[in-house]
Amino acid sequence: MQSICFVLLLLVEITVGKLDIKALVELKKGIQKDPSGKVLISWDPKSLASDGCPEDWFGIGCIDGRVTSITLNDLGLVREFHFPAVAGLQMLHNLSISNNQFSGIISKEVGLIESLESLDLSRNLFTGSIPSQLTSLKNLALLSLSSNNMDGEIPSDFTGLELLKYLDLHSNDFSGDVMGLLAQLGGVMYVDLSNNDFSGSLDLGIGTSDFISSIQYLNISHNNLTGELFPHDGMPYFDSLEVFDANNNHFVGNVPSFTFIVSLRVIKLSDNQLSGSLPQGLLQESSMVLSELDLSLNQIEGMLVLRHCYSYNVLPEFNGVFGQTIFRFIFDCV
Ligand SMILES: *[C@@H]1O[C@H](CO)[C@@H](O)[C@H](O)[C@H]1NC(C)=O
Ligand SMILES: *[C@@H]1O[C@H](CO)[C@@H](O)[C@H](O)[C@H]1NC(C)=O
Ligand SMILES: *[C@@H]1O[C@H](CO)[C@@H](O)[C@H](O)[C@H]1NC(C)=O
Repeated sequence: MQSICFVLLLLVEITVGKLDIKALVELKKGIQKDPSGKVLISWDPKSLASDGCPEDWFGIGCIDGRVTSITLNDLGLVREFHFPAVAGLQMLHNLSISNNQFSGIISKEVGLIESLESLDLSRNLFTGSIPSQLTSLKNLALLSLSSNNMDGEIPSDFTGLELLKYLDLHSNDFSGDVMGLLAQLGGVMYVDLSNNDFSGSLDLGIGTSDFISSIQYLNISHNNLTGELFPHDGMPYFDSLEVFDANNNHFVGNVPSFTFIVSLRVIKLSDNQLSGSLPQGLLQESSMVLSELDLSLNQIEGMLVLRHCYSYNVLPEFNGVFGQTIFRFIFDCV
């Protein structure tokens, strides 16, 4: 009995592995252009190892007959990408096809590849919006859809992506309320939403504490964001924030104090409608690691007193851009 079960299991495994090969052959079939020839030449259905894995197929990772990764970056491949064709790859962890000319929509079948940890479709010609089924990818840590022609609002159940650490949606035409998205991203480290059409104001506070403590890189530049920066709770107590880029939006009000952020290296608030004077706290003890501050193209005025001589020493490396702001530095080394 046991040995029959074993044989059956083995048969199931081999059959499933064969389906993986079939999926890859299907993927290969529709490729219209492969300038380097790497895929069209090496993906040979007759070239299989004893465990059923492809042997020396370019960009394919495989264990025990199951495809675990597809990495086809920078190859100039031209093809309409069909997610139903790869939906059966139940052990696929990485799908990375950046910088090609893959087109089409991300169809709902993407949600069936539950093993996916990393999905990089950046720098292609994908259109349409993000299907809500994508949010059922519970293991997803990295999602990059940057530099495509995608649009629409982001699904409202992004909280489903519990392990997401890296989200890059830059340079598309995505829209919707920015807080509607950020409030769902607890535990994420890198978020780039730049060059889209997100709207609303940046109102981080209670309810987004997981996000505030984990985020290291936040780029919301070149969007349609309005209102004051952090209007309700003042400057949130970011624990890890290193880069904050909010250039080219429609923010109004004062420059936030950015106190309690000891890790901030880069602050960019250029081309908004910020006014008032620069908070004294900004260039003082707590912000010793700050190396780039861009406040150009706002209506900030007043003077800045750097109270400690160490600030003076920091200054030669200080890459402040004050462009069309009325600004004066006073070095008061007392
Ligand atoms: C899979 O993607 C991760 C990034 O999420 C990367 O660190 C890893 O090297 C990739 N593995 C393969 C086999 O491509
Ligand atoms: C933010 O995004 C813009 C547009 O995508 C990019 O040019 C800029 O370098 C990014 N900022 C930082 C600090 O990485
Ligand atoms: C920017 O957002 C405002 C509402 O906050 C809206 O009226 C306007 O049409 C938006 N502009 C663009 C270019 O999307």
